[in-house]
Amino acid sequence: MNVLILGSGGREHAFAWKIAQSSQIDKLFIAPGNAGTAQEGTNVDLAVDDFEGIKEFCLKEKIDTVMVGPELPLVLGIHDYFLATEEIKHIAIIGPNKEAAQLEGSKDFSKRFMKRHNIPTARYQTFTKDTLEEGYTFLKSLKPPYVLKADGLAAGKGVVILKDLEEAKAELSSMLADAKFGEASSSVVIEEFLDGIELSVFVVTDGRSYKKLPEAKDYKRIGEGDTGLNTGGMGAISPVPFADQAFMDKIENQVIIPTIKGLHKDNIDYQGFIFFGIINVKNDPFVIEYNCRMGDPETEVVIPRLKSDILELFEGVATRTLSERDVEFDDRTAATVMMVSGGYPDAYEKEKTITGLNGIHDSIVFHAGTKKDGPTILSAGGRVLAVTSYGKNMSAALRTSYDNVQKINFDKAYYRNDIGFDLVEEKK
Ligand code: AMP
Ligand code: GLY
Repeated sequence: MNVLILGSGGREHAFAWKIAQSSQIDKLFIAPGNAGTAQEGTNVDLAVDDFEGIKEFCLKEKIDTVMVGPELPLVLGIHDYFLATEEIKHIAIIGPNKEAAQLEGSKDFSKRFMKRHNIPTARYQTFTKDTLEEGYTFLKSLKPPYVLKADGLAAGKGVVILKDLEEAKAELSSMLADAKFGEASSSVVIEEFLDGIELSVFVVTDGRSYKKLPEAKDYKRIGEGDTGLNTGGMGAISPVPFADQAFMDKIENQVIIPTIKGLHKDNIDYQGFIFFGIINVKNDPFVIEYNCRMGDPETEVVIPRLKSDILELFEGVATRTLSERDVEFDDRTAATVMMVSGGYPDAYEKEKTITGLNGIHDSIVFHAGTKKDGPTILSAGGRVLAVTSYGKNMSAALRTSYDNVQKINFDKAYYRNDIGFDLVEEKK
């Protein structure tokens, strides 16, 4: 099978690493990729939203399957583009069509979906510029803190949580009247604040059945103790100690099954990964958000725990025979620690030489933002490397990752020393 992966982060390196191990892989390409994906396959200089360029490349290299990493091409309709283009409509796309990707691409769409199918989520209302006053009234009816969400994609910055009512009103006005997030905030969802601990739950579906993947927890804030600015994610753990069988069963029955059935009822076809952002409120799951792709850095702990051949799963998705495929997972814990550029998520410097990578043996180093300069590997983004390790439990896995993080250097490298700090260790 010839496979093209779209994307350039740690998630895409983890997919490339796994696909490269498949007995079915012939040629593997990653567009645009990074220095890590170049070790697993061939990088291709194409942007993820250059549909024409991707089409030409797929024809030239006889690609069978395109695995879409990030949300942007899905929300822009890459799946629909392939289906509507005669020469490439036979190519399997792992990732949902444009309508289904609205589960991530529009907060209002996803909230209406959840309401319609009785999926537990925070109480909410949606407002536009014309209903700003009603928005203020709704804010007044809620208890602080106030959660405001730009409807569309806003590069992970579209959710604002404020404690003060006046500040929340000003934020609403800035989103709606002053288009703070451009078109993305022409509608704003205001919702009730839910107090609890979050986890990420994943399934892969062929539109008929689904397979659960291991759950994970990520650490979004830049600072230790979950403080400071939000980032793309500073580390992750899988499995999640508090997600016991009873809680995971509640998620399956109250969230996963109603979502899959809801998609059927609404006639929405879905072939790809569904990421459920879940919050555990007093042992009940609520959906914070859907994403139409895998998480990053969650993929860097979930995919290493997948024992089965990933291309078997992709084939199941493409031919809608997922129910006939087996999927097996590693019982060990996987932990990843993200090394980032100093200053991230604010301004940071790139092109720092990374040393020590050759001395790492018992961790897997997934590249997030790196590039090659001859034999040298340079930093090329805010998140630079995800150092993943297995362990018999969380602390063992983390210890190995932290030992190896010490061996890797680049100027102003930063990482959080407390990944997993809020989780109570399982006894093993
Ligand atoms: P989202 O982009 O919807 O995942 O929101 C970003 C982050 O904001 C989430 O990961 C949560 O930490 C937080 N968040 C979103 N919605 C709520 C809510 N209703 N209650 C509490 N926290 C929330
Ligand atoms: N780690 C969260 C995300 O990928 O959106």
